[in-house]
Amino acid sequence: MSKRILLLGAPGAGKGTQSKRLAEEYGIEHITTGDALRANKDMETEHGTPREYMDAGDLVPDAVVNEIVDAALADADGFVLDGYPRNLSQAEYLSEQTDLTAALFLDVGEDELIRRLTGRRMDPETGDIYHTEFNMPDDEEIEARLVQRDDDTEEVVKDRLETYYDNTEPVIDHYREQGALVEVDGEAHPDEVFERITDVVESEA
Ligand code: AP5
Repeated sequence: MSKRILLLGAPGAGKGTQSKRLAEEYGIEHITTGDALRANKDMETEHGTPREYMDAGDLVPDAVVNEIVDAALADADGFVLDGYPRNLSQAEYLSEQTDLTAALFLDVGEDELIRRLTGRRMDPETGDIYHTEFNMPDDEEIEARLVQRDDDTEEVVKDRLETYYDNTEPVIDHYREQGALVEVDGEAHPDEVFERITDVVESEA
């Protein structure tokens, strides 16, 4: 049966970096509410646009996000879920939709999170993730087109971390209390973190 992996962690913990690799490794879908919302930032909903929430570092309303996840899960056999659930009501909703092969928490300290987020750069053509200090492309053409995400400024990063402590840490506690969470130290080279994650996924399968 295809793998159904949940990757939890603070903003900047490396969920996007690792999810992309997991999706390739196991031939499963990468379901990311963040990317889906960024692609529809100015979509009008009855709650306003996603942009109004995202640029303030707040959570987009559950109704909008649950609908995205519903559609993505319906199309996916296996998946790695990145950026969802982010509060307890989303966690409850998810448990009604599917079960999981593994739930992992990528553990990274706050100073490192801030350094990773404020230095992150994205390739708008491929979606590849880079970092000004740790990981820049060799190709000058790619380097020239890299952009910073609107919510990676120092001010919005602080708001996103506050939102994470208030809303998402209780989700992590919830999975921990269920005995369903495996914690992975995320402060190492991305290759090393990937190896730690795949060790867990394969032992849970
Ligand atoms: P989203 O896009 O989900 O952002 P996030 O959770 O804040 O996580 P990030 O994408 O910022 O970090 P990441 O852990 O993926 O780190 P990455 O791998 O890029 O959400 C954005 C917004 O959308 C939210 O604020 C909210 O408004 C809304 N939203 C999304 N989902 C929602 C939901 N379910 N409900 C309501 N609202 C929702 O890595 C970061 C950097 O570090 C990169 O530069 C990378 O190169 C570098 N790096 C990665 N790993 C390492 C390593 N091991 N060593 C050194 N550098 C590393």
